[in-house]
Parts: sequence; structure tokens; C-alpha cells
Amino acid sequence: MSSKILILPGDGIGPEIVAEAKKVLETLRSDFGLQIETEEGAIGGAGYDAAGHPLPDATLALAGAADSVLLGAVGGPQYDGLPRELRPERGLLGIRSELDLFSNLRPAILYEQLADASTLRPEVVAGLDIMIVRELTGGIYFGQPRGIENLDSGERRGFNTLEYKESEIERIARSAFEIAMKRDKRLCSVDKANVLEVSELWREVVIRVGAEYPEVELSHMYVDNAAMQLVRAPKQFDVMVTKNMFGDILSDAAAMLTGSIGMLPSASLNAQNYGMYEPIHGSAPDIAGQGVANPLATILSVAMMLRYSLNEPQMAERIEQAVSDVLDKGLRTPDIYSEGMQKAGTADMGDAVVEALRAKS
Ligand code: IPM
Ligand code: MG
Repeated sequence: MSSKILILPGDGIGPEIVAEAKKVLETLRSDFGLQIETEEGAIGGAGYDAAGHPLPDATLALAGAADSVLLGAVGGPQYDGLPRELRPERGLLGIRSELDLFSNLRPAILYEQLADASTLRPEVVAGLDIMIVRELTGGIYFGQPRGIENLDSGERRGFNTLEYKESEIERIARSAFEIAMKRDKRLCSVDKANVLEVSELWREVVIRVGAEYPEVELSHMYVDNAAMQLVRAPKQFDVMVTKNMFGDILSDAAAMLTGSIGMLPSASLNAQNYGMYEPIHGSAPDIAGQGVANPLATILSVAMMLRYSLNEPQMAERIEQAVSDVLDKGLRTPDIYSEGMQKAGTADMGDAVVEALRAKS
């Protein structure tokens, strides 16, 4: 039975990097017998341009009928003037929420070939392999009330609400413990329990769920310290679990440890392991259309899709091996370039991955 993949290229560099991931999917289909059908939809600014909304109903319907979703990126300066509810980011937040994709897995792995591309000393990052589990459909991103109101005094007041129900904390904690069980069995829960009541509850619930996973060594860290520890001694971490906004921030920091945010994929899963897969970088409007964006994060997102949603771990390994082979050959997009390497554009990189795949067919 073939799996249906919905492809949402989005904005900025999204279409360029997704084009390379499509080449990889096509190669797995033609040369390795992967049974897939693909369809495309519009989201973000592209959704607004096509249908007047960053998350068109048609896109949501396609997502509902698909087995998984591959997304490029959303956002661009041309949409900055739109009302907040029509901005590209609302499309992304909307699809995460509508599909209940509460568990966001953001691995930060350092490819040994790229140790020089990190701004940290090689010995600090060599062998780095962290998994950040970010809660994705709750917290301050979605809490009510929210808004900007006019006060009697004549000034305005902006407000958002950081809230978590026990059930929301429980399910993300369980996701994180399950992942820790498949790795080094160490989980660090990141919160701000010294200041926030919601974090106090978070910590209590994580500890409660932890009782079901006695093999996992659970620790807790305040988010400010976690940010510092990530750049000081990142290899102390195995799995980290945290709220939506803390995860947004910490995952960007963790990404840079690996040399480039252009290398890192992500998975956003619901309770049934239905997932949306996307690179963790954004739409990079400053380099869009120039053919220089790194497509490897998107290509590696396809590997995550094959592993987590489509139950094709061998296909995933093929992709990951091909990416590693391409790095061995010395090909580098500008974001991971270092002296003595071979400069490559977006399409060169995608073509090289396809070639590396075929070399092993
Ligand atoms: C991310 C992005 C998004 C987020 C933006 C584009 C809404 O930064 O996926 O990390 O904040 O979640
Ligand atoms: Mg982010």
C-alpha cells in the first residue's frame, strides 16, 4: 500500500529546498521501490496568495487525507503588513494545532565532517547528539486571553497567557520518556519553576510520569541555566523536554552548536505518530531565489518522516548515509563552508545526495 505525502513548500527558500527533497523521494521511489504518492498544497504566504488565508481549508483537507506532511518554511517581509491572523506564521501554528502535533522532536547532531563549522571548539561539540522534545500546541503560543488593549490611561497593554493543563504536560512528558528509553535514558526537563506556577505544575507532572520510567535518569534545570549549559558543555545532555516557547529558543541555540541551522530536521507528531516534517530553519528571505540555501535539513526531514511515520527505517538510513557521503566528498553550501571544501549550491547538494543514493542501489 502506498503512503500519501502532502508537500507544502511555503515561502522564501521553502520551494527551493523542498525541490531537492522531492528529488530524493523520487529516487527512493524509482530506484528503491518506496511506495509513495505525493501531492502539493499551499501554506503560509503562499496560502495567502493562492486562497487569501495562510492555512487554506483545501490544504487542511489534504493534510487530513495524507499519511504525513513535508513542509519547507513560511514567512517573508512582503507579508509583514498583514493583520496578525493572516500572517504566514499563523498558517504554521494553525496546522500544528489543527492536527494536534503536540510533540516536536528537534535533534541536534554534529556530523563529524562539520566540526570546523561550529563556532564552538571542536572538542566541546565533537560527537554531539541531543534530542530536544518541544511541546508544540500549547503554552504561551496558544494561551487565552491574548491581545493588545487600549487602557484608560491612553497607553496600550499587550498580554499573552502561559498555561498548561496536566494532561498536556503528561502527554509531552510521556513522549520524551519514550524517546529517552530508545537513547541514553537520560532526560532533562527544562522549566522556570523558581518563578512560574505553570512550571511548578510542569515539574510535578513530569516527576509523576517519570515514576513509570524508572530506568530513565530524570533531571530538572531552569531555562536560563539550560541556555548557558547548552553553550558551555552541551554533551551533558541526552534528551531535553520543555514548553513551547523555551523549546523554540533552546532549539535554535542547540542548532548552532552543530555548525548550521541548515542541517537540522524536525518532526512534529500527534498521539498516533502522524507527523509533519520540516527543517527547523525558517524561510530565509535574504537568500531566497539565489540557489544557495542548504537543502540538507529538508532532506534529513524526509529521513525522519520515513522513520517515525512511514515505518521505513532502512530508507531513512539510506538518506542519512547519502548525506554523510556527500559531506565526506567535501561539498558545502555557504552556511557550512570552510576552507578547502568544495562550494555547492542548493541543487548541487540535492543532486549529490541523489547520486550518493544511486551509488548504493
Ligand atoms: C519554529 C519557528 C516558528 C515557531 C515560527 C515561524 C512561528 O520559529 O518552528 O521554531 O516559533 O514555532
Ligand atoms: Mg524557532
